[in-house]
Amino acid sequence: MTSILRTNLDIKSPGIRKNPRFRAAVTSIKLLVSPDDKLIILSHFGRPSPEKMEKDLSLKPFVPLLQREIGKKVFFLDNFDFPQIRKSIESAPGGSVFLLENVRYLKGELEDDIELGRNLASLGERFINDDFASSHRKHASLSAITRFIPSSAGPQIKHELEHLRLIMAAPEKPFVIIIGGAKVSDKLGVLKKLLPRADAVLLGGVPANTVLQARGRDIGASLADQDIVSQLHEIVQSEKVIVPDDFRKEKDIIYDIGPRTVKKYTAVIGTARNIIWNGPMGFTEKRKFARGTRDIARAVFANRHAKTIIGGGDTLSAVPYRFLKNSSKNILISTGGGAMLLFLAGEPLPALESLDKTK
Ligand code: 3PG
Repeated sequence: MTSILRTNLDIKSPGIRKNPRFRAAVTSIKLLVSPDDKLIILSHFGRPSPEKMEKDLSLKPFVPLLQREIGKKVFFLDNFDFPQIRKSIESAPGGSVFLLENVRYLKGELEDDIELGRNLASLGERFINDDFASSHRKHASLSAITRFIPSSAGPQIKHELEHLRLIMAAPEKPFVIIIGGAKVSDKLGVLKKLLPRADAVLLGGVPANTVLQARGRDIGASLADQDIVSQLHEIVQSEKVIVPDDFRKEKDIIYDIGPRTVKKYTAVIGTARNIIWNGPMGFTEKRKFARGTRDIARAVFANRHAKTIIGGGDTLSAVPYRFLKNSSKNILISTGGGAMLLFLAGEPLPALESLDKTK
């Protein structure tokens, strides 16, 4: 049997090996590695364009990391010559593990192209989607592929859905949502749906800049998404939506929340009985702008009474490992950012819907 596993290696350096997304991927892979069966791993990394195939978004650096974890060779499939790839897989001995290059280098991936789905499916006999974090996307390696071979959800997805359902079945108040990061339309769109249930929404990152600007504040040359402001009337008007008061800046650009904001947010977080957090508060790639996120993480992890969900690639990379390692049982670390928020808002996740149809 040859299995195709869609997992999530969309994880930035440094600290990949400790990142919960990577740990989740490794757990799924280990469950599928066997002495007889072959395994093909699919993932995307970043948002490359199929025309440019940006080299820094190759999955190749993950080969040694995965080999080290699973203790066996991982063959890297560095091109998309599907007939040739099929031959390589067929002639490989049982138990072989392959990693295909970034599926977002492929034309048709984002368009859920049927022919691409057929080609990807032709590499194996069954498909397992264990990439919860991308399940809000209707892409060929998540959706079209399911039309051609038996497809099911993997253990990580089942685990996350079960826990997300449990936490949301009886949300306790005060219910606090923290939203930061860069993907504004994904996050603020879904926030509209969660807003009626929330008691407070604390904003950082580009979502904060966007709302600040919509409320008439001068954000200088900072990043904001003005295109979606017209759809965010409820959020911009809502008193529950709290924005930063002070910032760490460079050349008129906001890069992090400041100490007064940290204090204000910490007080709100301390009273919460349910917390959802997705997205760093600042540009954490630069150490000097990682402070706000670290302080918010400290406040979130210190509240041991709240049921908490923390998710998203950038958030998990930005939260110090010492917090993740010692987190209480009340904290669910989700691999999903946008997918997690949509699920919590009761929205369908297209990649999971595709799996249902094959059952
Ligand atoms: C994520 O980081 O949320 C997933 O990897 C999906 O990435 P995307 O927002 O680029 O589709």
